Amino acid sequence: MIPVATPPFLLVSRSAEYETRLRSVLGERLTVVPGEFLTFGPEAVVTRVPERPRIALLGPVLNYEETKGLVEALTAKHPSLGLIVVREQRSDLEDWVDELALHAVLNPDATDETTLALLDRLAAWLVANGHAEAHDFDAPPALEIDDMPFVDLEPADFDLVADEPAIETEELVEPEPEPEPEPAAPEWEFPPIEAGVPTEAIAVVAPKGGQGKTTIAINLATGLAEIAPNSVVLVDADLQFGDITAALALEPERTIVDAVADTAADELVLKTTLTHHDDGFFVVASAPSPELGDQVAPAALAELIDRLRATFRYVIIDTTPGLGEHTLITLEHVTDAVFVTNMGVPSLRATRTEFELLTKIGLMPGNRHVVVNQTDKNSGLTIKDVENIIGAPVDIEVPKSSAVLFASNKGVPLIHDDVRDPAAKAIRSIVLRIAPEAFPKRSKIQRRRRTNEPE
Ligand SMILES: Nc1ncnc2c1ncn2[C@@H]1O[C@H](COP(=O)(O)OP(=O)(O)OP(=O)(O)O)[C@@H](O)[C@H]1O
Ligand SMILES: [Mg+2]
Repeated sequence: MIPVATPPFLLVSRSAEYETRLRSVLGERLTVVPGEFLTFGPEAVVTRVPERPRIALLGPVLNYEETKGLVEALTAKHPSLGLIVVREQRSDLEDWVDELALHAVLNPDATDETTLALLDRLAAWLVANGHAEAHDFDAPPALEIDDMPFVDLEPADFDLVADEPAIETEELVEPEPEPEPEPAAPEWEFPPIEAGVPTEAIAVVAPKGGQGKTTIAINLATGLAEIAPNSVVLVDADLQFGDITAALALEPERTIVDAVADTAADELVLKTTLTHHDDGFFVVASAPSPELGDQVAPAALAELIDRLRATFRYVIIDTTPGLGEHTLITLEHVTDAVFVTNMGVPSLRATRTEFELLTKIGLMPGNRHVVVNQTDKNSGLTIKDVENIIGAPVDIEVPKSSAVLFASNKGVPLIHDDVRDPAAKAIRSIVLRIAPEAFPKRSKIQRRRRTNEPE
């Protein structure tokens, strides 16, 4: 018998509908073991898994105990397996991620594009870390029934795989010929905002430079895009030295200069000035030079934020350090502000002054999130000390981590580059504070805290 490559992806799920969808996306690269086998324990599933799967998708419709049992049994047999739980966003999801040591969570309603992007990313990560070879993720050659690498399959399951017609590549790449789009039409779909859903604008600010604003803004956009794919826009309003596109390895064709120009007054034209990121969000790139950035008037930036809020569920604005005119007007047009500081006394003192000033002039946004970044046990200060200096409670502590620089150098958002990194987990909890509707239990508590004004 000729050696047959193992399908790299494994799905264990009780949803026939999801199975059909995933099969249409992955074709022969997918093996499915129905979740019903879990009635007989995780081993009943593991014995039905072919030789060496590389990535397992568990769910939907599996409970915590079943998922835990499966994770343990699968990783005991396949230690380098990539693990994804397919489950809606719920308040307990973070606990699942922490306790089960998962690589990723995928919403069952995610688009095929998002699903494939996630699988590609995890595959690349497994390859980069020596857990798999790039060719493992290629489609296996068409299988003869005698070559099927399964054991113990019920006839019904067997039929599902063996009778699936091989999909011709042409069928995939030759959809209906589309009429030529308008020259300037954006190629991405912008999901409409449902009536009654409030849009949120979040400014990421810091009185001093280099505190981590851009890192946090990028990862906020990435995390919120999981909840609202293609309904998140990240504005690089660090007008002179914005570096978001560099940190995301994007090559923008248009920038904020185009976005605020008169010609972008029309919504369709405005959309063409955005750059799409594969993780499901858009970027308004910073000006191509400091001189051009200087020409963006504060009022034009404010108008841009307001107009983006008409189209996007979340608008995130990375800012210039300090409280210049642009940052002040930005704060006037947002619902939330994320204040970033490190544990250095000068930065903490400046944060206190910033809070006092904003409160005095009435520009403290309704929802405030205080993030202490690059925390370090050896800084000589405790968080209590930090709170005393800034005169306000700290909401999130993001530890110092080399994974931050590593992700930025690769051009990948940290929370997708290294899901288990402690800084990535801390930044995810900022996402939870901002998206309470997705995580009701946890956020209720945090909504109460975050409306506190500084003392
Ligand atoms: N938690 C962290 N651990 C380690 N390094 C970090 C952390 N957060 C940010 N950094 C690093 O600190 C540097 C500054 O971060 P970042 O660019 O996000 O800050 P910024 O506030 O946007 O800076 P600027 O004011 O220059 O725009 C970067 O090199 C980044 O990789
Ligand atoms: Mg920055």
